[in-house]
Amino acid sequence: MTATDPVHGRRVLVTGAGQGIGFAVARALLERGARIAVNDLSLERVQHAVDALAPFGEVSGYAADVRRRPEVQAMVERAENDLGGIDFLVSNAGIFPDNPFLEMTEEAWDRVMDINAKGTFLVCQAVARRMAAAAAKDQDIRQIVTISSGSYRFARVGSAHYCASKAAVVMLTRTMALELAPYRILVNSVAPGLIENPSLTDDYRRAFTSGVPLGRIGVPEDIAAAVLMLLGSGANYITGQVIGVDGGVTAGRYGLPMSHGEQH
Ligand SMILES: NC(=O)c1ccc[n+]([C@@H]2O[C@H](COP(=O)([O-])OP(=O)(O)OC[C@H]3O[C@@H](n4cnc5c(N)ncnc54)[C@H](O)[C@@H]3O)[C@@H](O)[C@H]2O)c1
Repeated sequence: MTATDPVHGRRVLVTGAGQGIGFAVARALLERGARIAVNDLSLERVQHAVDALAPFGEVSGYAADVRRRPEVQAMVERAENDLGGIDFLVSNAGIFPDNPFLEMTEEAWDRVMDINAKGTFLVCQAVARRMAAAAAKDQDIRQIVTISSGSYRFARVGSAHYCASKAAVVMLTRTMALELAPYRILVNSVAPGLIENPSLTDDYRRAFTSGVPLGRIGVPEDIAAAVLMLLGSGANYITGQVIGVDGGVTAGRYGLPMSHGEQH
């Protein structure tokens, strides 16, 4: 792509980019010429990601726990200073432990809500404040993409806290879209279906795949492609939307025969 590519040269912060979806998003953006700041929990994870991403372009790393406001503020300030600004944010850090509802502890609930919902709020607010200030000096379009989940509307056993946290992310996304529109900040969410992850069991992977119209579970690169679609297509009239990336799972029930037979 050339320098007219909407992604080329833009400055992007990606949270939770040590592995998985965040890492794939960072790599895809680097390959399109973006300048990337990656975040993860620990310095080790961040350094590992920076080393792996360095062959693809300009990348710097920042350790911070997205639950902790002072760490988030420091990360955003450093990333903005180092890059000279932040044009795009991909708020991706999140966890998805299984805890059956009847046995779920308050600690388990709080941990998921703190990282997935409050963490998204803290990161988005810290970045959006800086984007809004920058908007007073130019006419640029800036963008925030949150990574939610199909679980915001499609409940999953063992995931009451997770589903609630992702519904919160979606409504946070939509509200930010309304409030940040005057600053030309577009805010959308990508809602992945099941995506390959080292924690997935073979049994679950097999059982899930039979219900996916496209016949496979997703890979992190599928989510990176959707993020690039939002950030890199010049589609600057899309805001407040949720883009499902799930191989067709949420289109409807799949795998049943026709209800009245072929001849009806
Ligand atoms: N894998 C899936 O099937 C799937 C489906 C739907 C949505 N998602 C969402 O996509 C996002 C990424 O998922 P993934 O599959 O890449 O997971 P992952 O576990 O492979 O990667 C998540 C990264 O976030 C980091 N992280 C966790 N807590 C953090 C914190 N407090 N502060 C900073 N970083 C933190 C982890 O260290 C890890 O590197 C999550 O928000 C997840 O909920 C994943």
